[in-house]
Amino acid sequence: MKRPQSINGLAAGAAVAGLVIAAASLAAASSAFSGDPVRGQALYKGCGGCHSIDDNDIGPRHRGVVGRRAGSIEDYSYSTALKTSGLIWDEVTLERWLTNPSALVPGTKMFFKVDDAQSRADIIAYLKEQK
Ligand code: HEC
Repeated sequence: MKRPQSINGLAAGAAVAGLVIAAASLAAASSAFSGDPVRGQALYKGCGGCHSIDDNDIGPRHRGVVGRRAGSIEDYSYSTALKTSGLIWDEVTLERWLTNPSALVPGTKMFFKVDDAQSRADIIAYLKEQK
């Protein structure tokens, strides 16, 4: 389900901040944070040294990545490990990937990790919007 943009608005955010924190602790227990795409867009700058939404760079371009088979951009040169991983990028696989790419796909050439779970969820929420 696509959440209306206004839920992520500042006013709504402030009003339900307490609730959001409570929800986040609950979500932590079930390891499913709900992401904020606006915060995710800001955090995505950290990926920008290697990635962009529309152009291949050190890493592959990201438009449409959610729902895509891993290692499937034709004009990007992936590691064999990622190309043959058989993964489909969704919230679960991306969460594991950003936690530790080498643990999910031994032999990958991406070594960048995002340590904070909420930040991972926010980045994934942002990527979901880049269809
Ligand atoms: C230091 C460079 C670097 C940074 C920073 C980096 N990546 Fe990557 N990323 C790569 C490389 C290189 C690959 C290709 C990996 C391979 O072929 O094994 C990759 C691959 C990926 C893929 C797989 C895409 C596909 O088409 O299968 C995703 C998703 C991804 N990165 C997300 C991110 C996100 C989100 C961030 C920021 C939180 C990020 N990366 C930060 C270098 C980087």
